[in-house]
Amino acid sequence: MKKKILVTGGLGYIGSHTCVELINKGFEVVIVDNLSNSEASALDGIAKIAGERPTFYEFDLLNAEALDKLFKFEKLDGIIHFAASKAVGESVEKPRLYYRNNLQTLLNLLDNMVKYNVQNIVFSSSCTVYGQPDILPVTEQTPVQEALSPYGNTKQICEEILRDTVKAEENVKAIALRYFNPVGAHDSALIGELPLGVPQNLMPFITQTGIGMRKELSVFGSDYDTKDGTCIRDYIHVVDLANAHIVALNRMIGENQKAKYEFFNVGTGTGSTVLEVINSFEKTSGEKLNYKIVDRREGDIEKIYADTTFSNKELGWSSEKNLDDMTSSAWKWQVALREKQATEA
Ligand code: NAD
Ligand code: WQD
Repeated sequence: MKKKILVTGGLGYIGSHTCVELINKGFEVVIVDNLSNSEASALDGIAKIAGERPTFYEFDLLNAEALDKLFKFEKLDGIIHFAASKAVGESVEKPRLYYRNNLQTLLNLLDNMVKYNVQNIVFSSSCTVYGQPDILPVTEQTPVQEALSPYGNTKQICEEILRDTVKAEENVKAIALRYFNPVGAHDSALIGELPLGVPQNLMPFITQTGIGMRKELSVFGSDYDTKDGTCIRDYIHVVDLANAHIVALNRMIGENQKAKYEFFNVGTGTGSTVLEVINSFEKTSGEKLNYKIVDRREGDIEKIYADTTFSNKELGWSSEKNLDDMTSSAWKWQVALREKQATEA
């Protein structure tokens, strides 16, 4: 009998890639998504790649009645909770929207897990909880710092909600995955990141500049204390990240946890500068990128990258793809998007 997993936000960037890997690994997938930051066409992409179409419910996780009906009907073995608002800048302008959307959705899920005895949840956390760490690379023992944005604070609070809930509820177990910088796309170029409006993140801005949608990339600062003066991040291929969720889920289903709440850094362990990402993009795409160095972006941290020892040894997961795989797959997706939009125009 296949294990049935609810993927919230499953039509989003990371969720859609995780649904493909879940199906590939023999799970049955149920998606709930309100399409606030994705498109229903992602379902076609998942089905084309994986050869199986997940069950899809289109509603807002804030709709407690609809969520209760889903749990009553679908006998779930676990949840992967991606659904959230994730734009750091927007969270500063609209904090209440972020606290409501990112906290209440988790609480609604936990209420139903307890009511319907669904025991396992994997949560999307973020390295943003570490702020600018004093010591690098970042381990799971690195202290969580005061959040630099309401968005980052919602991730910290969600981790605390999970920590306290597993203590109070005998049958609830949780694993939080602290993602570093997810980039790239599935090799098929049938699913990928769909930034609505002007991209805030580096990779989509690079590929949109490369394809001519943007005039030039602004590189935010070249006076940092790094090898070339630009910021360092731990970029991780979204497919590697997706697979970390399967490993975490199996850890809980297989009763292999050391504690009922665990959290793991999910990065590659390699830091790359902005200019290194640009160089990789130019190498793999064959495109010369138009960019200029401008002032630093408010709120940017200088450098962060993961110590992956604990994820590798304890969780039993490690990344496999390198920066060139990331930039080449991101570019392939951008080119496919242009062709798709041209045929739909
Ligand atoms: P995304 O916006 O592409 O996907 C989120 C999905 O959730 C979207 O499809 C959206 O429509 C849906 N959604 C949002 N609120 C909902 C609600 N109330 N009810 C139902 N559906 C809802 O984002 P992503 O990049 O795939 O990120 C997924 C998760 O990973 C988020 O929790 C995010 O905070 C976290 N994360 C992302 C990054 C990153 O750089 N992308 C890094 C660290 C952590
Ligand atoms: C990466 C680097 C920029 C755009 C954010 C969120 C984090 C997580 C991942 C949700 C930085 C530089 C960027 C541009 C640039 N999201 N850059 N020009 O800021 O590390 O993390 O996304 O959880 O919470 O904070 O990612 O892609 O925005 O920036 O020079 O046009 O690229 O300065 O050094 P970031 P990013």
